[in-house]
Amino acid sequence: MNFELTEEQIAVRDAARDFAQTDLLPGVIERDENQEYPKEQIKKMGELGFMGMMTSPKYNGGGMDTISYVLAMEEISKVDASCSVVMSVNNSLVCWGLEKYGNEEQKQKYLTKLTTGEHIGAFCLSEPEAGSDATSQRTTAIDMGDHYLLNGTKNWITNGGTASTYIIIAQTDADKRHKGINALIVEKGMDGFVVGKKENKLGIRGSDTHSLMFTDVKVPKANRIGEDGFGFNFAMSTLNGGRIGIASQALGIASGAYELALKYSKERKAFGKEISQHQAIQFKLSDMATQIEAARLLCFQAASLKDQGKNLVKEAAMAKLFASKAAMDITVEAVQVHGGYGFVKEYHVERLMRDAKITQIYEGTSEIQKIVIGREILRD
Ligand code: CAA
Repeated sequence: MNFELTEEQIAVRDAARDFAQTDLLPGVIERDENQEYPKEQIKKMGELGFMGMMTSPKYNGGGMDTISYVLAMEEISKVDASCSVVMSVNNSLVCWGLEKYGNEEQKQKYLTKLTTGEHIGAFCLSEPEAGSDATSQRTTAIDMGDHYLLNGTKNWITNGGTASTYIIIAQTDADKRHKGINALIVEKGMDGFVVGKKENKLGIRGSDTHSLMFTDVKVPKANRIGEDGFGFNFAMSTLNGGRIGIASQALGIASGAYELALKYSKERKAFGKEISQHQAIQFKLSDMATQIEAARLLCFQAASLKDQGKNLVKEAAMAKLFASKAAMDITVEAVQVHGGYGFVKEYHVERLMRDAKITQIYEGTSEIQKIVIGREILRD
């Protein structure tokens, strides 16, 4: 077991850190306040290679390992989790799924533009009545011979308004339950496809979350990913990697809040000394540092399994479960360390606390992660 990062991994981490500090930090408070999508920042992330990190260079990707992706996600999430969720969905749920299961024509047509950030992707599984219970899709994709007729509504879709390429999970044959579900590539602008209202969110307010409506949208058969009925397995397999992305996001939110709390505790004086010299604060900092280290190791473990092509279902769910809880706990404590300053926007920790909550909800709630882990443990 080797805990050393390679030179390449360190270079990726440092590049992401520099970019986050230079390009994301200025304006992050205003973007959150105004719910402003980070358009210029995402464009630059594409130019720097952060939008298709793990995809093969054959499709304009970075050809990097998943550890590098975890490192970059952590650094970007420390500063702006609204940017990192765009990055995570594009990398893990859209580019990875297309490269692994798409055909060559789909990869040339869609993937080559998604990896550069020229196009942004969205992964559309959740519905008003099917979030955790993913087999209960109400959106239908009826087989019409040369195309599918798509009808229904998707909810809480990250990149919903800004994406050009949408992967839609829909039910073709309800009698077959999960074997009757398909994954279809839908382009913005197809007749009958309407982007609905933008959500006004607690956190990750700069990211673009919408509902989507489909009324008799004709989706060519050529846009189906994999064989007929493969859509549910496609979604589940893709979400495993997605959970590593969100675990890394949670790790970054946690370590960002910790670093701010540590710095503040060395500056702020109370009762004649820096508050870091009080045991009450040291206990908090020690707990935070320990949880972050454990979360990072869980992320690395899941990433390493993914890179080796091994089963990562349990480890990815564990990484997400643990890191998202750590993010919530640590950001709350970071606000506490800051006292009254922690409650105002200029000090960043209140935003990180609001951003942390979604990591316990999307790409499977914490309760779903426990179900996934439980099933894997009992299968062992
Ligand atoms: N990895 C790979 N395959 C999996 C899998 C996994 N983690 N989980 C299930 N499967 C496969 C099974 O092997 C099975 O395949 P076969 O029939 O070919 O053998 C098939 O899927 C069906 O499995 P189950 O019968 O176990 O399925 P289920 O209905 O009982 O699944 C569940 C239950 C695991 C809780 C699943 O519904 C689930 O993961 N739900 C959460 C969905 C989710 O994460 N939603 C978040 C939306 S995406 C999002 O948030 C994106 C964003 O914007 C940021």
